[in-house]
This record gives sequence, structure tokens and C-alpha cells, in this order.
Amino acid sequence: MTMTRTDDDHAVLEDLKAQVRRHNHLYYLANQPEISDEEYDDIIRQIKELEEKTGYQEPTSPTRTVGAAPSAQFSTTKHPEPMLSLGNMTSEKDFRSWLRSKSVNRQGRLTAEAKIDGIAIRLEYHQGNLALAATRGDGTSGEIVTENVRGIPAIPQRLIGEVPAVLAVRGEIYMPRSGFAIYNAERAERGEEPLANPRNGAAGAVRQKDPSETARRPLLFYAYTLENPPEPIKTQEHALSWMSILGLPTNPLTLVCADEGEAIRAFQSIEDRRDHLDYDIDGVVFKVNDLKQQEAAGATSHEPRWAIAWKFASERAITTLQKIEISQGRFGRLTPVAVLEPVHIGGVTIERASLHNETDVRKKNIRAGSQVVIERAGDVIPQVTGPASPRQAETMPEFKMPSNCPDCEGPVTTKPGETGHWCAATDCPGRLPAQIKSLVGRDAMDVDGIGDVMCEAIAAMDVEHDPERPAENRSAAKLYLLTLSQLASLPGSGPKNARNLQERLAESQNRPLANVLYSLGIERMGRSVCRKLAARYQSVDQVIRENPSTFLNMEGIGPKIAESMRMGLTSREVRATVEIMRRCGVRAIEGLVSPDQTEEANQIKITEETMTVKHGRFDGENVVVTGKIENMTRVDVERLIHQQGGDTSSSVNAKTTLLVVGEKPGSKLNKARSLNIPIITEEEFFERMKAA
Ligand code: IVH
Repeated sequence: MTMTRTDDDHAVLEDLKAQVRRHNHLYYLANQPEISDEEYDDIIRQIKELEEKTGYQEPTSPTRTVGAAPSAQFSTTKHPEPMLSLGNMTSEKDFRSWLRSKSVNRQGRLTAEAKIDGIAIRLEYHQGNLALAATRGDGTSGEIVTENVRGIPAIPQRLIGEVPAVLAVRGEIYMPRSGFAIYNAERAERGEEPLANPRNGAAGAVRQKDPSETARRPLLFYAYTLENPPEPIKTQEHALSWMSILGLPTNPLTLVCADEGEAIRAFQSIEDRRDHLDYDIDGVVFKVNDLKQQEAAGATSHEPRWAIAWKFASERAITTLQKIEISQGRFGRLTPVAVLEPVHIGGVTIERASLHNETDVRKKNIRAGSQVVIERAGDVIPQVTGPASPRQAETMPEFKMPSNCPDCEGPVTTKPGETGHWCAATDCPGRLPAQIKSLVGRDAMDVDGIGDVMCEAIAAMDVEHDPERPAENRSAAKLYLLTLSQLASLPGSGPKNARNLQERLAESQNRPLANVLYSLGIERMGRSVCRKLAARYQSVDQVIRENPSTFLNMEGIGPKIAESMRMGLTSREVRATVEIMRRCGVRAIEGLVSPDQTEEANQIKITEETMTVKHGRFDGENVVVTGKIENMTRVDVERLIHQQGGDTSSSVNAKTTLLVVGEKPGSKLNKARSLNIPIITEEEFFERMKAA
């Protein structure tokens, strides 16, 4: 049989619709979406195009309906007014043309509301009492989840003041990011799989069989629509403020815009705040403010004409995982790394992403040659979260860590009680790039401007070294032996850059003892051990000459660390590093750092507020930092504490004397509260830093 053009279109259309049904089920019911919103919208767009081309639109077409049919687990209710979806777009150009469309026509004001990524809910109040809560379902009928919703304290059981006999509102139930983090940590403690994101957290929580289970989940709510506004309410703005007077929470991140310019600035302003909010948003919803105008504009079967969602550029994408490479860390750990077909997410191009370890790769079913989902939230490092299509992935071979090191072909080993794989050869050349990277890091020799690619190139270069010590060519400090022309030949360098680099290297000779000890790259001799050593010894030479068993008497140094220090301090590679540094004038090797220089090196260059720091504001304290501190990385905050005599650690325990809480704190906050540990905010922390 030969297929006619229409048969062809029909087959494609059926296939696209089947895809939508499957993704609706995954998104709305299973809470396990496999594709990004963009890709979903793209399928819908293709269906629309074909429907226009063939002139045929089925009544059940996804271009007419929204969401997935309600699950049989709950009774259903027909919505008096369909709960429509929202048209969406991602560019200023499309937004401007929506503003110029017939139904909007730039008349009057607009509201700009943060589009929260949660689950839509319809609430009916009878005589001011909550009588019904229903999910959106397929837009026409939803699931009755009233009993579950009663366990969400943000949703009032009773409205305040005079209200009409029946009042219906719509809004979004969401899981705040902080609550999500705590909830996931608790799941992990119980050995349960973590949830992928707060949206799934909210959707799953609302649709629990047992209402007391919903009540245990951290859920919040914002109302955004008044279904039957009483007469005096004439605008969306007014509807929002009246709802909040009734006791229904509304989002303070709502702006009213008088014109196109203000609307575009509102979008930018909400997008700017995105990373600092305690909830996920995926765009801005613009609504015609005047309710009469809304009514006049009407709706299509799918979406209102008077509202639109301007979505942020996606933070989720799908791409091909070309291959899995093995990267070696400075202590020989072998990490699988995804090499991806370059993909843009939220304004950055992603080509590589760490895959952690073999167990994780297998658990997530990530396979080379398949399509994978990449996610990136705010400034968080991109992650490969799983296959785009598990069925397609299964046609590819499972990942297996090689049994020989790709760099030196030596055996790959595991360690008892630890996850991961290692190359056992301490002199494996594969360790060198990561060792150089660490040596130039801020806690070590602090040499700016040497990125990953340069580290690789330096590792591969032959340097003129002491012929008696071949290990010098395998030491990360060989960086100090590069000639000016070698520096100039590095990728991304050149004659001018080489001179700058040489100056920075010369300047790094004055780094304080703790930094130089850390730059030796000895396993388990971390920042805090190096600080303790620097407080007790005057030079690297003294530390090397010390009888290693003495270290065991120092606080925080147990047998494992002491043994690792003993091995490291006597290894050929570390000895070679020390000799290179000695020849190149690194002063702390022989203890030639004068107190003045140490003081200078200790000065904090991070923010202006902290310029006048002296000493000892955190003397004797053991501080834990949780949440995001504005404009600073956690490492910077911890460095400030160290410079003020305090110690830091990553978990709250009986030794903790103080908790510093930034934005979106994690479970450490609860732990500190339960242990009665003093807690200070970010502002109080900086006040203390500034105090005379
Ligand atoms: S208005 C007819 N306003 O986005 C207007 N929706 O893709 C429909 N959402 O189902 C909704 N924040 O779950 C509206 N301020 C807001 C919103 C919002 C989040 C969600 C809601 C809706 C979906 C549409």
C-alpha cells in the first residue's frame, strides 16, 4: 500500500499525540517528567501545525485539553469553569507581539506575577469555610484532595471577615527549596530515593493516599485567581489584595506595570531575584489587570487570551552523551565524566559534566551514546540526571569502570568502605593536572589565571630540573621551573600573559606556612590540619623533620591522618616539590616569612566591609556555615572565620559552638536548634566581623 500525504500526516499526528499522552502521564501523575518544558511545548507546536495543515482537530486533541486525566485513586469533580493552561513564550520579541495582539492591544495596566513551579489547586469556600480542594486534572475535571489540603497550614480553613456564600480561588501549592532540602535529607536518612525537584515534591505530597502524610510534608501556598470576584473588585491587583485580607497568602513578588517598558523591566527584576527566592519559579505570568477587559478578551479552548507566561530560558535540556571519559583526581580517584554534545542551558554552554562514580552512573541508567537529561539550577553545577528515554538508553551498553588506569595502565582498585575507584600508582602522570590545579588554588599558592586546560598542558611539559631528582618532572611545583617561553606557549597565553604569570608566581613565594603546607598535596592533610601545623611549626622543613608520631598528639589528627602524613612527607614527589620551592624562593619552606608578611598575606581581600579586620573575633569557636551567604562562597566565609582564629566544620555536632545561617539553610539549622547551639544570621556575622 502506498501512503498518501494525508495518511502520512495522520500517522505523524497520532504518534505525536501518543507522545503527549505519555509525557502528560509522566508529568502530572507519575511526577517523573522525562523531557523539558521546551520539548513538550515543541511537540504541542508540531501538533498544532499539522492540525492547521490538515484542517482537522479532534475534540480530545492535546491542543484543546490540558494535563492528564485524573487518577482513579481520588474521586473527581467537574470544574465549573475549565482550569485552563497558559500560553507561553521565551523571548522579548514574542512578548511584545502578545502585547500588540487584538485582545491585549496595550490597553491599561498588567500584573507581573512570579510563575511558581508547584501544583495548581482550586479551593471552594462555603460560608467562609474550606469545603473543596481540587487539582487541575485534565482542566475539565480534577481530583478531590480536600482532606489532604486541610493539612497545609498556609491554606486557611476559614476565611477572615465578610465573604460571599461561595467563594472559589485558585493558586499554587509549592514546596519551598529549604523544606525540600530538609525533606530530601530525611528521605536519604531513611534510605529512600531523593525527589528530583520541589515541584515533584509538592505534586507527590498533595496526592498522598494518607492525609497525615501530606501534613508531614513542608508545603506552602499562594493564591493568584479569584474565580467569582464580588462587584467592587475590578482589577487583578485588587483581587490579590482582597484575597490577602481574607487570610489567603498572595505572593509579594507581584508587580503592576503601566506600560511595555515597565513590563519588560518587571520580567528582568523577577528573573534577577530568581536565585535568591526560597521557591522555584520558571517564568513570569503577565495578566491584563482590568477584569472587564479580561472577560472581553476571552479564551481559546486551551488558554486565556488575556494572560501569558514569559518563561525563563530553560535550565533543563536534553542532549547526546557522546562518551564517558575517566578523569583522575590529585589522589588518584577516577571519576567518570560525561562528554556531551554541547547544549545551552540558562545562558551557558555545557560540554562536560562529572558523573561522580560507577554506582551512580548505573543507578541513574546513564549510558554513552544515548540521549540524556541535563539540569542546572541557578548557579549550581550542571548534572546529568538520567536518560531522556529509558528504552533508548537500554539499547546501549551499561557503563563499566575500566580495570586499568587510562593514564598509566596500572591496576584500578577500590577501597574498603568507600565508593569509587582509584589508580593505585602514586606516581601516575594522570594525577598531575589535578595536583597543579590544587597547587595554584586559593588555599595553596593562590596563583590566579591558571585554568584546567593550562594545568593539562603544564603537566605534559618537560621542565629543566635537577638531574639527581627525576621526580621533579612529576611534581606539581614544576610550574615554578617553566621558562618564560614555555609559559608563553601555554594554551591561551602569549608573551604578555607569560610575564604576568611569572610575576604572579614570584609573588606567590610569600604565601604563609599553612598555604604552602597545603600546596604539598598530601592526602588527608587538609586545610584545617595545615592551619594547626602552621600554628605550631615555623617552616615546612620543621614539619618534615618532625617525628610523625608527634602529630598524633595534636587535636583533630587521628591515626589515619598521621599515617597519611608520614607517607606523604617522605614521598619522592613531595620531597621534589619542597626542593623546587626552596630553589625558587618560597619562603615558608625554611620559615623565612616575617610576621609582617604573614599579616599581609592574611589580610582579607574579599569585600570592602571586611577590610579592617584584625584578629581573633572567632577565637576558639567551632563554626558551621549553612545556606547561601550573599556575594560570597562558603569557602570565602570559612576563610574569614579561620583568619579570625575560628575553626570550621561541615556538619553540626556536639563540638559546634556557633551556626551562621544564610539564605535557604539546610537541615543543619534544625540540628543546631535541637542541640541548643547559638545561631547567628548573615547580617550578625558581618556585624561581628566589622566590630572593633
Ligand atoms: S494563572 C487562566 N498565575 O502555571 C490562568 N498561573 O502553565 C491560569 N502558575 O496552571 C493560571 N503561578 O499552575 C497563574 N501567578 C500565576 C501562576 C500560575 C504559577 C501555574 C499554574 C498554572 C500554570 C499554567
